[in-house]
Amino acid sequence: MNSKIKKILSKKNKTKIICLTSYSKNFSEVLDKYTDIVLVGDSLGSVLYSFDTTKKVNLNMMIEHSKSVRQGVKSSLLVVDMPYNTYRNKAEALKNAKKIIKNSKADAVKLEGGEKILKIIKHLRKNKINVMGHLGILPQSHKGKFRYKGKTVSERKKLVTDARLLQRSGVFSIVLECIETNLAKKITKELKIPTIGIGSSVNCDGQVLVTDDLIGLNLTSIKFVKNFYNIRKHIELAVKKFTKEVKSKKYPSSKFSY
Ligand code: KIV
Repeated sequence: MNSKIKKILSKKNKTKIICLTSYSKNFSEVLDKYTDIVLVGDSLGSVLYSFDTTKKVNLNMMIEHSKSVRQGVKSSLLVVDMPYNTYRNKAEALKNAKKIIKNSKADAVKLEGGEKILKIIKHLRKNKINVMGHLGILPQSHKGKFRYKGKTVSERKKLVTDARLLQRSGVFSIVLECIETNLAKKITKELKIPTIGIGSSVNCDGQVLVTDDLIGLNLTSIKFVKNFYNIRKHIELAVKKFTKEVKSKKYPSSKFSY
């Protein structure tokens, strides 16, 4: 087993697991000092490209961003999202997962779904591909209005079953997105593998956020997002200073000229 995955598994019930998204080298260099997992999420579709859905993200985009991220990630586990329509059957999933891993040297891929994609996950595992699961809100297949998961009895049962099946299929961890607090607790308690929550309460083994959201670069009003910083303010300050110095001909002075 990958030693970084072993380390992440060993953190269950001991210390929280830190996971953040990155889409480029510069961000990754900073994150890598603090994270256990760096995720190249297909959220890059909405965050970087202003797509209205992650379904518009393609394999090439994921590979190019992952190659950039890889250059900044040294000690964290690098996980890459398999984008929409790249894992519709076993052969397609294996071909595309191998392509992602070969090009980006990623440690693992993440797929959205439970029972429906079980055969695909098992096939990837049989071929020694490390897989992270993703349950709850599934942006690649989500339709209609936002609603947290685990509201009805049948939805709760299905999520517990899916989590059990994913664990049995060999995923090393599961992202739980927008799952009701007590259900996230139950799933986390029952599983031997760690759960990584996003909008799924403090009860998960770790937490993931979109980095652009947590630094206040990407503006969003999603309930679970906390802005830990207002990076926009600092970008604006630097741009203001630049503008002032260019207009007053202070910049570029001889020090910055040939
Ligand atoms: O695409 C993404 O960034 C994700 C995380 C938010 C879990 O899947």
